[in-house]
Amino acid sequence: MITFSQIPEIRLQLKAERNARHLVGFVPTMGFLHEGHLSLIKKAKQENDIVVLSIFVNPTQFAPSEDLDRYPRDLQHDALLAQQAGCDIVFVPPVDEMYPSGFLSYVTVNELSTVLEGEFRPTHFKGVTTVVLKLLNIVQPDVAYFGQKDVQQSIILKKMIADLNLPVRIDVVPTIREADGLAMSSRNVYLDPGQRKNATVLHRSLLLAETNIALGEHDPKKIVDAMTAMILEHNPTQIDYVKIVDAQNLQEKHILQSGDTIVLPLAVRFGATRLIDNIILTVK
Ligand code: PAJ
Repeated sequence: MITFSQIPEIRLQLKAERNARHLVGFVPTMGFLHEGHLSLIKKAKQENDIVVLSIFVNPTQFAPSEDLDRYPRDLQHDALLAQQAGCDIVFVPPVDEMYPSGFLSYVTVNELSTVLEGEFRPTHFKGVTTVVLKLLNIVQPDVAYFGQKDVQQSIILKKMIADLNLPVRIDVVPTIREADGLAMSSRNVYLDPGQRKNATVLHRSLLLAETNIALGEHDPKKIVDAMTAMILEHNPTQIDYVKIVDAQNLQEKHILQSGDTIVLPLAVRFGATRLIDNIILTVK
């Protein structure tokens, strides 16, 4: 595994890979790798000749009040895990390599970026789309891998790639969970033992909704109310949202119909830790 921190160097290496007709799979991350990230690397390895991983805690997707400075980092451990999962090239740029002084250009995907997470993190997706566009331009992969865990992010990035005609395919990989159902996240380390236990209710509330929908409940309000009641029994600090939205445009559904593909996204705080989770399903 080779590590690069400078853009010209990784570009040179990847030019050689492309000249050798090697398929390049790309996994962008902010590091502190867990099984969720590793599942993306492993899938990329199965489907490509070369796997590139980026580790970059992107400052532009954090608001001033958020956890940029205390975001967990462990580069040495990440390198070990990435190598074991089959990664070939790691890109770890310093902040000024990605955002040299005088940086002025941003890309925004309108509408999709202002709902759900966008209501609580208004500048977040502008930072995500900008850094991912930059990374895609640097790496120029054949396929880029993202997790369903961040479902709105993956929908926004697909839209950016379609709208801007980027020559890359996006693959969205299922959410990897702990044995008790909690979606793996770098931020789970912030939870104290009590919060960690309570947080397992999030997945259970999604399973409850799935069951209710399968049993024929088509009223999103009733489904969401049952989820909210269940979550409230587990001492959340704040429920930011629990919603049922259309999987294409992320607009709220007011009635479910057979054949609808929907996303049930939620964001809940336990203490200062904000957790997100979701399921995607098609109504029978
Ligand atoms: P990060 O939170 O590090 O996540 C990197 C990738 O791993 C994302 O595509 C995310 O959806 C995926 N992922 C996270 N937890 C997962 C889980 N439990 N199961 C499966 N996949 C999971 O998302 C980002 O970084 C950043 O916004 C980034 C795209 C790198 C831009 O800065």
